Amino acid sequence: MPGLPEIFPELHTQRLDLIEITTQHLQDLYHLFTNPQVTEFYQVIPLQEPGDAQKIVGMLSQRFKDKTGIRWGIAPKGESHLIGTIGYNTFTRGHRSTIAFALLPEYWGKGYITEAIAAIVQFGFDVLKVNRIEAEVLPGNMASEIVLRKNGFHHEGLLRQWMLWDDTHYDINMYALLKDDMNHK
Ligand SMILES: CC(C)(COP(=O)(O)OP(=O)(O)OC[C@H]1O[C@@H](n2cnc3c(N)ncnc32)[C@H](O)[C@@H]1OP(=O)(O)O)[C@@H](O)C(=O)NCCC(=O)NCCS
Repeated sequence: MPGLPEIFPELHTQRLDLIEITTQHLQDLYHLFTNPQVTEFYQVIPLQEPGDAQKIVGMLSQRFKDKTGIRWGIAPKGESHLIGTIGYNTFTRGHRSTIAFALLPEYWGKGYITEAIAAIVQFGFDVLKVNRIEAEVLPGNMASEIVLRKNGFHHEGLLRQWMLWDDTHYDINMYALLKDDMNHK
């Protein structure tokens, strides 16, 4: 039966290790998700101190336990500290998934996210067996639109008031990659 395995599936790329996020990473998550450049177009639970990142670790590990989603920590190869996270917030086996990613600004511009997206896209199609991978991008988030296009995603349009966060509705640009798109590369 395709889907998420019991043991957390680490992935490895040329320069990165995609690993399980644990309480050992509270400081790294706090650092990442309180950076105003990261949160400009990326909605996260507000964090007051590193200990608050426990809420994020708890939510992500529950999601994996329930087999409804998976988030990897992005670590430079051979290291255990995180420079970002990437994963699927939701997925339906045999159908579709939603990708999300974020990287510390000091690591931007090196193509790391492009590398990480390629690895988890392969995981999505091969292991989760999804047919379609979606990304919801807030208007103005040019860097995300460019990395998605670099990974073969197509812009499908602006979905009006598609996203609900803190009682506010946000328009989003819908990007998607189909399994068929991979066959026609
Ligand atoms: C999205 C994100 C991961 C991209 O990381 P990155 O390391 O800059 O990505 P890359 O270097 O692989 O590619 C970014 C591209 O966008 C370009 N770019 C970046 N900001 C840009 C801007 N404001 N306008 C136009 N182009 C821009 C870069 O030049 C680069 O293009 P190139 O490959 O042709 O040189 C990073 O910006 C981030 O963490 N953002 C905050 C979190 C977020 O918004 N996540 C997305 C939620 S859907």
